[in-house]
Amino acid sequence: MTTTATIIEAFGIKKIYKRGAERVAAIDGLSLTLKEGEFLSIIGPSGSGKTTLLNILGCLDNPTSGKLAVGGITVHDNGRGLSESQLTRIRRQLFGYIFQNFYLIPTLTVLENVLVPFTFFKKRGAEKDVMAILKNLGLDKRAGHLPRELSGGEMQRVAIARALVNHPSVLLADEPTGNLDSERSREIGQVLRQLNEKEGLTIVLVTHNPELALSARRIMTLKDGKIVEEQARPEH
Ligand SMILES: Nc1ncnc2c1ncn2[C@@H]1O[C@H](COP(=O)(O)OP(=O)(O)O)[C@@H](O)[C@H]1O
Ligand SMILES: [Mg+2]
Repeated sequence: MTTTATIIEAFGIKKIYKRGAERVAAIDGLSLTLKEGEFLSIIGPSGSGKTTLLNILGCLDNPTSGKLAVGGITVHDNGRGLSESQLTRIRRQLFGYIFQNFYLIPTLTVLENVLVPFTFFKKRGAEKDVMAILKNLGLDKRAGHLPRELSGGEMQRVAIARALVNHPSVLLADEPTGNLDSERSREIGQVLRQLNEKEGLTIVLVTHNPELALSARRIMTLKDGKIVEEQARPEH
């Protein structure tokens, strides 16, 4: 029997925002467990807390209360948390992030953009490693091009490549196809599925594109900061 390690464990997470005198629970007592190798989609209406949740899971934001452990390390325990430098290390070692607006640097080539994470932390052999990642994503012929010479789908693939250079355990994607047409969205869905199935990359994908959500085997619906539905789909 093989046991799969838990990579994210969230228990009773709350995130409260103050809006004037009003307090808004963006995340309202949410618990979830993510195991290594899983591909989870999070869907739900605008304002349901998807981005807030993803940022908390990815240690980019702090919950107001609740408990969060990532990679076996307790990050938050009812308001007590790690230091900023410890969080930085966890973000760098454990997570890759992609967003709706690809955040490429317009004056840098594809290769240079993907090497950006190494700007402050030199790593031997990085360039060779990065070329292999680009090739895997069908971007090797684009290495010397500038972002403006690429299609939207290619730009997002460059952003995916950049997220993968630190060999993260978990890829977190917030509306990665929000700026893409349906054809390019499908392409990104396939890339993510391949990374999950062939490379065993754990993925959490936030989207309100129902077709893209089906790339995952586990789909969770959020409403008002709570999980209101959860589906597990058979292998596909
Ligand atoms: N920085 C913030 N300050 C105050 N309220 C916020 C902030 N960020 C998000 N919210 C509120 O939290 C709720 C969830 O937002 P969000 O996580 O962005 O939802 P989604 O990504 O599903 O659209 C919304 O009501 C939103 O207005
Ligand atoms: Mg959002």
